[in-house]
Amino acid sequence: MIRVNRHFKKLQSSYLFYTIAKRVAAYQDANPAAKIIRLGIGDVTQPLPPACIDAFHNAIDEQGSPETFRGYGPSEGYAFLREVIAEKDFGYREANIDPDEVFISDGSKCDCGNFQELFATDIAVAIPDPVYPVYLDTNVMAGRTGIFKDGHYQGIVYLPCTADNRFLPSVPDQPVDLIYLCSPNNPTGTVMDKESLEQWVSFARNNQALILFDAAYVDFIREDSLPHSIFEIEGAHEVAVEFRSFSKMAGFTGTRCAYTVVPKACMAFDENGDPISVRDLWMRRQTTKFNGVSYPVQRSAEAAFSEDGRRQVRELTDYYLENAKIIRRAMTECGFKVVGGEHSPYIWINTGQDDWAFFDRLLQQASVVTTPGSGFGNNGSGFIRVSAFNSRENVIDAMARIAQL
Ligand code: MLT
Repeated sequence: MIRVNRHFKKLQSSYLFYTIAKRVAAYQDANPAAKIIRLGIGDVTQPLPPACIDAFHNAIDEQGSPETFRGYGPSEGYAFLREVIAEKDFGYREANIDPDEVFISDGSKCDCGNFQELFATDIAVAIPDPVYPVYLDTNVMAGRTGIFKDGHYQGIVYLPCTADNRFLPSVPDQPVDLIYLCSPNNPTGTVMDKESLEQWVSFARNNQALILFDAAYVDFIREDSLPHSIFEIEGAHEVAVEFRSFSKMAGFTGTRCAYTVVPKACMAFDENGDPISVRDLWMRRQTTKFNGVSYPVQRSAEAAFSEDGRRQVRELTDYYLENAKIIRRAMTECGFKVVGGEHSPYIWINTGQDDWAFFDRLLQQASVVTTPGSGFGNNGSGFIRVSAFNSRENVIDAMARIAQL
């Protein structure tokens, strides 16, 4: 008899953004004339930078000629992309990494979700609350938690992120083995400062723990003094892995390209306490389960680092940040307390009421889609997340509709 992975039965009935998409589809079916504005899932709306498009076209042409055609690429990604990433994204301050510590993939969601496979099922996992649901759900699927009760999975060490701690997770007062951090944060839009990252790196080193650091939104940071990589923190190369993505910074949500940095110094331990290279484990996993990102997509991603590409990426992220500013201002004027949206495309809004009811009201009465905060965890109750990923015109329209309500 084929039996299911019993841990899947512990999951909430469906993935957050899938649940929302179903509600929105039902509303659209019932109101075919409604012009819905989507500020829910963080999906970009502006086209790829021209430099990326040109490189994409050229690479496709290469695939059309026998002299330049390429079949399977390396599972970890082509050297041309890994080298430019190491130089342009990490070749500054203390953040240095080697190109062979970079693994190209088709998305940070998959990498964040898959990485936990490398570790034992009886380790202690610390996860912020609220949080991007992928970190939690993939650990549930892997059997690292008990059942879901009173808004929490048993066995997980939750790191509350509330107004009391400026929405920044504090180190727990118990040892843990695997830690998920995200900065700029999804969903709260806040950014971890150097001091708080130093505390985490020191905690991880003292506990032989590993930090999975999700920096998918790093290109939205506009203050030099804020850390742009966990590897800027001394000692982080031994205890951290960093996820980055082209999705939000260069509009690749539909094109798919991301990367994960796994330093050679980073170790996990076997049952005897002997160190094992996390990079080698990830290489083993990727070469077995993943065949790489397509050549044209990698060439297109490489172009985001050219002079033109960098300027165009900056214009793109500036565009969404201006949307974020408009949302922050409009929601503040409506009397709500807001955080985020300054170095992030997400604005975290305290509605002071039931967040699903508020979400429904915005959908039913303004045709505006947001994301209810409790979908990200207990501490998201009463909040909504508004995404700045849309056209300027739609953002202004959405804010006017909400103000009218
Ligand atoms: C979000 O809205 O949280 C993101 O778009 C989800 C993702 O990047 O997978």
